[in-house]
Amino acid sequence: MKKFILSAVVLASLQLHPQAQSDIQTAIQSSSIPHLEKRDTHFSLIVDGKPFLVLGGQINNSSAWPANLPAAWSAAEAMHANTVEAPVYWEQIEPSKGAFNFSNVDLLVTQAREHRLHLVLLWFGTWKNGQNHYVPEWIKTDPRTYPREENDHGKLLDVMSPNSAANLDADKAAFAALMRHVKSIDAANHTVIMVQVENESGSVGSVRDFSPAAQKLFDSPVPADFARTLHLRPGNWTAAFGPDADEAFAAYSTAHYIGEVVSAGKAEYPLPMYCNVWFAYPVHALENRDRPSAGQEYPSGGPQQANIAIWKAAAPSIDILAPDFYSDDFTLFRAIVATYSRPDNPLFFPECRFDATFGRYFFYALGHGAIGFSPFGIDHEQLPEVPNPQGIIASAPATSVNPAENYALFHAPEAQIAQLNLEGKLYTAVEDKGAARQSIHLPTADAVVSFGFPQPDGTYPPGTPNLHGRAVVAQLGPLEFLVSGFDASVSFTLSAADLQQQPNQQIEILRAEEGRYVDGVWQATRILNGDQTDRGLNFRGPNPPLVRILLHTLPLYDEAVHRSTQ
Ligand code: DGJ
Repeated sequence: MKKFILSAVVLASLQLHPQAQSDIQTAIQSSSIPHLEKRDTHFSLIVDGKPFLVLGGQINNSSAWPANLPAAWSAAEAMHANTVEAPVYWEQIEPSKGAFNFSNVDLLVTQAREHRLHLVLLWFGTWKNGQNHYVPEWIKTDPRTYPREENDHGKLLDVMSPNSAANLDADKAAFAALMRHVKSIDAANHTVIMVQVENESGSVGSVRDFSPAAQKLFDSPVPADFARTLHLRPGNWTAAFGPDADEAFAAYSTAHYIGEVVSAGKAEYPLPMYCNVWFAYPVHALENRDRPSAGQEYPSGGPQQANIAIWKAAAPSIDILAPDFYSDDFTLFRAIVATYSRPDNPLFFPECRFDATFGRYFFYALGHGAIGFSPFGIDHEQLPEVPNPQGIIASAPATSVNPAENYALFHAPEAQIAQLNLEGKLYTAVEDKGAARQSIHLPTADAVVSFGFPQPDGTYPPGTPNLHGRAVVAQLGPLEFLVSGFDASVSFTLSAADLQQQPNQQIEILRAEEGRYVDGVWQATRILNGDQTDRGLNFRGPNPPLVRILLHTLPLYDEAVHRSTQ
């Protein structure tokens, strides 16, 4: 980034022809490493100088092998993804200490390019789902050199101690070697756009490490910088965190360790780096059991909701704490979106179920500024097939939920959508129980979205059987919008506030074009009017179109016009 700023300054001083200057500027931008950018309250991942929306798909844990990759690429293509999230296994790349084998990484990168896909690499290192299952054998078999966590009875767990310098040094060395290698093969191409460091870290089986070495740290003063950042009471962990001391200690130890791994990797090749989260799902409240237990229901010390502040303070090198979402509870999804969208944390969902929930969650996240989304396990899933009454498998009917539809809609206009997202001009509406009609309050008008068909005049919209209605509205100009959706109609009205201020006003459609973006340029295929616009824009059935609609306002009553016609 620094390099780019210097080059731009030098460029300005050369006093070139404006076109030459702009060409060179574009070349400099497109050669810049993928990075995150923030504009006001919105973030974007910038790839080749342009905002990029990650339409991702994560392959299964054991799929990043030569024999399995063909199925992974086909699955990604079938769902119209632009990015594959693929694991890189520590045990495979460093089978003996210091001897690296990057053959799987090379294959991933080469084949992703052949399929015109980007990659997010998932570093399965010290942690995988709160355990250590991907550390190499030479580490697993030598717990004296590479210590495990111990529970409060001294049992050695299948979790590496985050309080061990030997463990940290080993992971740092391997991850740095990986990033050095990625730079050597990809710095000019940017196939790899982001890296997940570790996987759902934290410890399963104990609230924290109780080994003697860890206990000594636990009884010592909380590190001074960290205590200052969080305005903690001076003293040891118990003094600073009271009843939450065990989990806070685990969170600090884990975050600090991973922050160091990230820094070692970024020193080689500073791609954006994030940590995914197995967050704390609410328990079904029993009396006296109103919160889940760390180390039992979720890996203790990971970047869960209650630990975000600790992670941000202990590991500033980590760019994003990114929740994995596995639930059909939409209220919980909204709460997780609210918790992880913060001024210091771009919203990114690296995993969610590849099922009927995917579409509505994706739309909701997009309307809340997400830089990307990715269902998990794409290479083993089938698109829905629905038997007809004779038991014959037919293609999916209009109202079924086909995960591929979501990315199909955004794949071609991805660059426009990503740009609008960064500018905060993207809005979505997602159907919910009892909310088959919703208003999106745009700065210049309201979009009224009604879910489910038919929508006879004068009736409340019926909604859809599985709540899959969703719509997107992007503001292109003061009264110009890009609109689409699934089982939804969208119409525009003046907002109640506008009407109150200027009651003598009405809004009309000037033109509604159905079309598509080709190489970033809008191409209209037809003008919609009559039944296609009189009751709003209708998005029924699979493969909905994009519609670009231009509205205008005019007075309800204009004395001068009235007179001129007399
Ligand atoms: C979350 C993990 O991060 C993934 O690697 C995978 O194990 C899924 N759970 C399986 O549901």
